[in-house]
Amino acid sequence: MVAAIQIENLKFKYAEEDVLKYINLHVPKGSFVSILGPNGSGKTTLLKNVCHLLKPYEGKVVISDQLVERFKSKELAREMAVVHQGANTEFDFNVEDVVLMGRFPYIKKFQSETLEDIAIATEAMKKTSTLHLKHKTIKGISGGERQRVMIARALTQEPQILLLDEPISHLDIKYQLEILKLCKMLNAENNLTIITTLHDINLATRFSDYIILMNHGEIVEIGKPFEVMTKENIRRVYEVDVEIVKMDQFENPMIVPI
Ligand SMILES: Nc1ncnc2c1ncn2[C@@H]1O[C@H](COP(=O)(O)OP(=O)(O)O)[C@@H](O)[C@H]1O
Ligand SMILES: [Mg+2]
Repeated sequence: MVAAIQIENLKFKYAEEDVLKYINLHVPKGSFVSILGPNGSGKTTLLKNVCHLLKPYEGKVVISDQLVERFKSKELAREMAVVHQGANTEFDFNVEDVVLMGRFPYIKKFQSETLEDIAIATEAMKKTSTLHLKHKTIKGISGGERQRVMIARALTQEPQILLLDEPISHLDIKYQLEILKLCKMLNAENNLTIITTLHDINLATRFSDYIILMNHGEIVEIGKPFEVMTKENIRRVYEVDVEIVKMDQFENPMIVPI
C-alpha cells in the first residue's frame, strides 16, 4: 500500500527524557487513522513531529515519498494541513479571512487572493456548515463553530493529508459526530488521509480504519479497531476494565467501561 506517512525509528525529547521512543509507523494513503492513549502519552508530540513543527533527534519522517525536512514550507502546506488543539484566538480576524488564510501556500508574494481562492474557501465553509458565520469574528463564535472554521481553513489548503489534534474534545455530542462524519466524508470522497488524536474510544473505534494506541511515548498496538481495542490492551493502557460488545448495526464493537 502506498504510504501517506512513513515513520522509521523516530525518537524525540524535549529535555533529557525521551518523550517518543522508537516510533515506527506506516499510514496508507486514503486511510482514517486515530491516535489514542492517556494524557501525556505523546500523541501531540507525535503529530508535531509528523508536520515538522518538532524535529526528531533520531529517525525519519517521510511524507508522500519525501523526507519531511526536504519540503519547502509552502510545499508541505499543500501536502498536509494541521488543525492544532485549541484554535488560536489571539487575533480577532473575521471568519472568512481566517478560512482564506488556508490559501497561503498557493498565493505568491505581494499577490492577493483570486476569485478562485475565494471560491475554494467558500466551498470549504459550505462543507463545514460555517458559511453563515463568514462575517462574524473568530472570537464571537462558539467553540464548536470555531473548530469547524479551523477545519474549513485546513480544507482550503487542499491537502492530501489532514492532521487533527483532539478536534472534538470540547464539543457536545452533536458536533462531535458532525465533525467526525465530515472527516469521514472527505476521507471517502476525496481520498484525504486523516490522522486524528481522540479521547473517545468508542467514536475512534466507529470511525477509524486503523487505531494507534500509545502509552509512555511508545506505540503499544496498531491495527484495525477490533484488533487494537481489546480488553487486555485497554486495561494495560488506561487501567480500566471494559466489556467489548458487538452490535449488529455497526461493523466495529462498542466498548463499555465496567
Ligand atoms: N513543550 C514541552 N516541553 C517539555 N515537555 C513537554 C512539552 N510538551 C509536552 N511535554 C511532555 O511530553 C509528554 C507527552 O506530551 P504530549 O505529546 O502533549 O501528550 P498527549 O498529547 O498524549 O497528551 C508529556 O510528559 C508532556 O508533559
Ligand atoms: Mg495532546
